[in-house]
Amino acid sequence: MTIDRFDDESALSAALATYVLEQIVVRPSLVLGLPTGRTPLGLYRELRERSRGDRIDWSRVRTFNLDEFAGLPSAHPASYRAYMQAELFDHVSIDPANIGFLDGNAVDRTEECRRYEDAITAAGGIDLQILGIGANGHIGFNEPASGLRAHTHVAELERETREANADRFGGQWRNVPECALSMGMATILNATEIVLIATGAEKAEAVRGMVEGLITTRLPASLLQVHPRVTVMVDRDAWSS
Ligand code: F6R
Repeated sequence: MTIDRFDDESALSAALATYVLEQIVVRPSLVLGLPTGRTPLGLYRELRERSRGDRIDWSRVRTFNLDEFAGLPSAHPASYRAYMQAELFDHVSIDPANIGFLDGNAVDRTEECRRYEDAITAAGGIDLQILGIGANGHIGFNEPASGLRAHTHVAELERETREANADRFGGQWRNVPECALSMGMATILNATEIVLIATGAEKAEAVRGMVEGLITTRLPASLLQVHPRVTVMVDRDAWSS
């Protein structure tokens, strides 16, 4: 793993935005894996500002988001799809047909997970996967457990994770769906390159475990140690060593 340390969140976001846009220029049909949550908000702000006025051609870029809440239609304001439209997709020249997203409202969730895996494979795999990390070490919605799922699956959410998402649901963690659809560990590890971003002191323990600890399903992000091309971008607070 390569560790890139930044003074603060905005320096980190600016550096990652530069890298992502360089990749799009070099490879216009880049396949991007994307996270939601608080951490990438600065990245998406930078991407949309620097893409303004068609400065960056997103028309051939394809994206796959990591996860979506189960039981929510994509138009629901708390859905991750709504987050992505508001933070990025509505502001850049991406072709809606190139946006890969899990349908949280699918009647047959197992079939939906299979469709998603097939869509990623048909796109040729993910070139650049961007990840956040939960304070408990989750990536996507792969929560700490005695075993982890390899492929896209229906995941039960930990109370801690539901609490972390409560602000999208009127501040009430009980309103956060109990399940989500999420890429699995192999889906993530099959990406050619992975960049994980972490900011804030509440992530420091998980980051330390991920980088320096044993590989364990109790800290799903630690599995990234087996990947040959991972960069961890942290601000000062998230890197306490
Ligand atoms: C969201 C996702 C999650 C988040 C993680 C950190 O799509 O995959 O694993 O990256 O929960 O969330 P924030 O950035 O809100 O701390």
